[in-house]
Amino acid sequence: MDTKVLDAFTQEYKQLLESELRTLVEKLNAPPNIKEAMHYSLRAGGKRIRPLLVFATLAAFGKDPKMGLLAASAIEMIHTYSLIHDDLPSMDNDDLRRGKPTNHKVFGEALAILAGDALLTYSFEVIGKIPNEIASSETKLQLVIEMAKAAGSEGMVGGQVADIEGEGKSLTIEELEYIHIHKTGKLLKYSVIAGALLGGANHDQLENLKAFAHHLGLAFQIQDDILDLEGNTELLGKPVGSDTTNQKSTYPQLLSMEGAKEALQKQLVLSKQYLEDTGLNIHLLNEIAELVASRDH
Ligand code: IPE
Ligand code: IPE
Ligand code: MG
Ligand code: MG
Ligand code: MG
Repeated sequence: MDTKVLDAFTQEYKQLLESELRTLVEKLNAPPNIKEAMHYSLRAGGKRIRPLLVFATLAAFGKDPKMGLLAASAIEMIHTYSLIHDDLPSMDNDDLRRGKPTNHKVFGEALAILAGDALLTYSFEVIGKIPNEIASSETKLQLVIEMAKAAGSEGMVGGQVADIEGEGKSLTIEELEYIHIHKTGKLLKYSVIAGALLGGANHDQLENLKAFAHHLGLAFQIQDDILDLEGNTELLGKPVGSDTTNQKSTYPQLLSMEGAKEALQKQLVLSKQYLEDTGLNIHLLNEIAELVASRDH
């Protein structure tokens, strides 16, 4: 696959995002320690796949991807908060994230919890402050409601609860699918929704993009499960074998490695079909989908 166009796009918009995230946290009038803990996990790196989905969706509508900078920053804050909490001793109890010691290892559990809380809360302020030239008050309200649903008990939090409650149990594939769709899929899907709302999607375009992102989210988490077994800690920047240690149900565990890889390909094909049905300029989104399924980190 020729990824040159996506590579250049990624480089340009990742840089903009990194600098926006830095500025957003820097300007907070808050105790230095919480700012440092927020900066630490945001700066630790990460693929920034959710922001890229916002930007690439805007590009699919022929819009300036920069219109999505604040929405993308807000989403990356929520995602980073979810990682900080996911790594806590009471959750997955992991020591390494994005190639660095996890937030609680550096700042202690109390500050790590609070840094997560602060990132989550700030993300809503950031969405609320999108300039009116970019989004009407009505669109902003829609962005806020959809973001809350994607991140909360009907979304990511709900999936995390089911994931934790499923430890040590043998789940059905339907139960596992619920976990994946919610803990990972909902926020990825919201990234596409945000780009679509800002890009002025019509009803059919939005529905097709949602279906695309739904299947992409599943593919993304199936690959995450595969990498927990077949990946390389240095490349991943997080420990391999965490799922086994925590007795999680995963796709490879339920379907065998071969079955998990088949399921991943099935989700990829479905996602790309819906993407084509949008009739938009899908080049970048298509490349992101390919990357999600073949990534090694
Ligand atoms: C990891 O997400 C957690 C999941 C939801 C699977 P990413 O794989 O996007 O992590 P970063 O942002 O690149 O570190
Ligand atoms: C995490 O799923 C999903 C989140 C909401 C953070 P995992 O627990 O599989 O993510 P990793 O493997 O630790 O990144
Ligand atoms: Mg987890
Ligand atoms: Mg984890
Ligand atoms: Mg994982």
